[in-house]
Formats: sequence, structure tokens, C-alpha cells
Amino acid sequence: MPILKKSPKDDAKKRPEAAAPAPAKKTAQPLSLLRGMRDLLPPDLVYLRHIQAVIAKVAQAYGFAEIETPLVEETALFARGVGKTTDIVEKEMYTWDTASGESVSLRPEGTASVTRAYIQHGMLNMPQPVKFWYTGPMFRYERPQAGRFRQFYQAGLETIGDADPIVDAQLILIAHLVAKELGIESIVRINSIGTPDARANYKNALVSYFRSKRSKLSEEDKKRLLKNPLRLLDSKEPGMQELKAEAPQMVDWLDEESRVHFTRVLEYLDEAGVPYELDPYLVRGLDYYTKTVFELFATSDDQELAQSAICGGGRFDGLVELLGGRPTPAVGLAFGLDRLMSRLKDRQALPPVVEHADVFLAQLGEMGRKRTLPIFEEFRQAGIKVGEAMSKSSIKSQMELANKLGAKWAIVIGQKEVLDGTAIIRDMDAGTQEIVDAKKLVHEIRKKLGK
Ligand code: HAM
Repeated sequence: MPILKKSPKDDAKKRPEAAAPAPAKKTAQPLSLLRGMRDLLPPDLVYLRHIQAVIAKVAQAYGFAEIETPLVEETALFARGVGKTTDIVEKEMYTWDTASGESVSLRPEGTASVTRAYIQHGMLNMPQPVKFWYTGPMFRYERPQAGRFRQFYQAGLETIGDADPIVDAQLILIAHLVAKELGIESIVRINSIGTPDARANYKNALVSYFRSKRSKLSEEDKKRLLKNPLRLLDSKEPGMQELKAEAPQMVDWLDEESRVHFTRVLEYLDEAGVPYELDPYLVRGLDYYTKTVFELFATSDDQELAQSAICGGGRFDGLVELLGGRPTPAVGLAFGLDRLMSRLKDRQALPPVVEHADVFLAQLGEMGRKRTLPIFEEFRQAGIKVGEAMSKSSIKSQMELANKLGAKWAIVIGQKEVLDGTAIIRDMDAGTQEIVDAKKLVHEIRKKLGK
């Protein structure tokens, strides 16, 4: 029989890839996170939820009720509330126009939204003060660095409708207590920036001082001098330290009312044993503040971390009116949860979560596997934690997992058990087995677990 010779051409027709290697199939480029954003993985969330729970507990004990406002608000709320010339509004907001042409922004902070809600829901007419706490993500398009993210988490407390200095002290005490409860020793840096009038006078004094030093200012600081001179006080530009030391200080410009208020706050803090330091340069980056401003710092931090506050707040007596309500004093604070989280994680403050099951549900064959779905649910409803590997067919790997989960008992359901209406209960330590009526399975396991 003649041997049919195949030409390479024939091959090429049938199997083109054999003739000329096709260009390598492009694998899709993996997509990754946006800069400044991060995933919170299960171990991170153990820390975040723990911190939120501690804050919730303290807040509730002090009479704060939880509120949740939307992540998206009208841009005007923040422009008006936080201040048009602040870094937050000028440079850091995620802002876009909706299909209907409204300018909206992701919230960069919570105080403006909570104040809007207070006005919008007529809470001015409730017994005052109204005390809220909240937690959730905030968004600022900042340069990412240690402890600074573009989506970050805060928990805040706001007391609206109370002008008494003891309320300022109460909030600062809460900040200190929360840190303590989380195992973080902290110190408060505190200042008073007075009433808007006193601040305006001080601003003029500051502007004329820094104008006389203009040639020594960086370009960034020259811009601050024009737009937001108070921010010169927390400028970190080289050479500023000496200039600031000579600059007029807010305390010398405080109006009588603010001075008395500040003294009272400090007296209350002394009484409560909250450690604090006066910081004449503390002005904060949001325009709504009046009188008391403060930040909380962890004392045990290394150099880099020590520069980032774990909590910030102050009085905002003008905000309710600015947003369209009647004049109403208020004071509040917000914790930076990412910063608290990283401190707790660094010292492994929480035990790692170990997955555990009271009992393991194993199956053999298709009939057994089908039964595991309803049986699992029966156990869940009975409050018994069940481990499973419903997609696995090897009994060996199912038993290995049962051991890993620390289950004392394994239930085995195979074809025979389904047909007989029974189930096998295996004692994982002793290796012994017994057969029980499937209808009494939950009851039997409950008895064994002593539940
Ligand atoms: P804030 O100082 O801008 O104040 O933020 C409060 C805390 O949030 C900061 O101390 C810091 O721990 C954390 N934080 C701020 N920005 C970031 C970021 N980019 N990444 C990580 N953490 C950050 C406020 O937001 C005011 N609403 C606080 C307040 C409430 N004042 C009165 N009531």
C-alpha cells in the first residue's frame, strides 16, 4: 500500500497553528487599585470592626445616637460648610456633574452632612443638644503617604445645640478614653481660635507680620498668605519654624468670651485628668471652627506616625447658621480609623481569627451531597456552627478539614444513609461512629455539644 505522503502544506491547512505559531495570546492586564485606595481584607476588618464597636459603645454610653448620611452630597454643602478656600474643597474633593447637571461630591468629612441633616429634619425643635455619632468612609484626593489615604474611615461625634465649655471637654475626654480603651496612650493638642471677629483681627495681624517676611516665604506659603493666612501656622516648609516663633499668637487676640470659654475647657480637662498641651499653631484645615480646636496624638508612636493625628475636632458655632438654620452652637470630633487600625495591627493587639466549627457535615456520593444543603440550614437555624466542603468528594480531605476546624463531631451522609433516613455521627477524637435517625440529627448533636 502506497504511503500517502503529506506535504507540510496539508498540515498547515488543517492545523494552522502547527505551521506558523500564532502570535502569543494576550493575557488580560490585571487591573489594580487606584492610588491611595486599598482593599480591607478580612484581617483588616477584624480591627476596623473592633475599633468601631469600641467607639459605638462609648458614644452610646455618653448619649450619642447613630446617624448615617449619604456618601454623595451637593458640592455646595462642602464649599459652604468646610470652606471654599480650604485645601479640602479646593484640591481634594471627588466632584462631578450628574446627568442632570448638578455638581455633586463624595463627602470629604462628616460634620457638614450631619449639620445639614440636623437642619433638614427640623431637629432644631427637639430638646437640645442633639448628639450624633457616625462611622464610614470619607474621600479626599490627597497625596497618599503613611497614614493618608484617598478613601479613609472616620468615626465622628457631634453635639449640636450646646454652647457650654463642658461639652467641649466631654468630647475631648471621650477621644482620650476611646484611645485608652484601644490600648493607645494619647495626648491632646489644644488651642482656641476665638470667634470669627477675633479671628479676623488676628488674621490681619498675622498677614501684616508675614507680609514683612514675604521674601522668606516659599511659593506655597505666599499663596497661603493671600488665600488662607491661618494655614501658614501649620506650614511645614523649611525656615517656617523660626518665622512662626516670632509671629503674633492667637491667644493674645482672643475676645473675652472665647478666653473665658477656653479657660473653662482646660479646667474641665484638668479635672478629668486628660493630658493636653497648648498648641498656639493649631488652626485645623476646615473653616467652620470657632473657639476650641484640638487634635489627639498617640504618644508611643515613632517619628513618622507621631506627626499624624488620630482624632481631630473642635467647636463649630457658626455652621448651622451658615447652612441655613438658626444660630446654634455645636462641637464635635472625628477619629481617623485607618490610623487607629495601623497602630493596633502593628502591635497585633487582637488575636487572629481562627475559623472554628462545632460539627462538620461530610457527604459521600451525589445523593448524600444533595441532602447536605437542607441539613446545613437546619443546623444554622439551631445556632450550631457547621463546617462543610460540599463540593469535595474525597472523604479524606473532608475529614482533614473537619480536624482543621476543630470539629469534635462529623456527620457523614452517603447514599445508604439517605435511603435509610439515617446519618452517621463520627467522634473525631475517638474515631468511633454511631448511626442515628436523620430526623433526630440536630437533637443528637445538640445533646453531644451540651447546647
Ligand atoms: P479632620 O481633622 O480633617 O477633621 O479629620 C479627622 C481625622 O481623620 C484626622 O485626625 C485623621 O486621623 C483622619 N484623616 C483625615 N484625613 C485622612 C486621610 N486622608 N487618610 C487617613 N486618615 C485621615 C474632620 O474631618 C472633622 N469633620 C472633625 C470634626 C467633627 N470636627 C467637628 N466635628
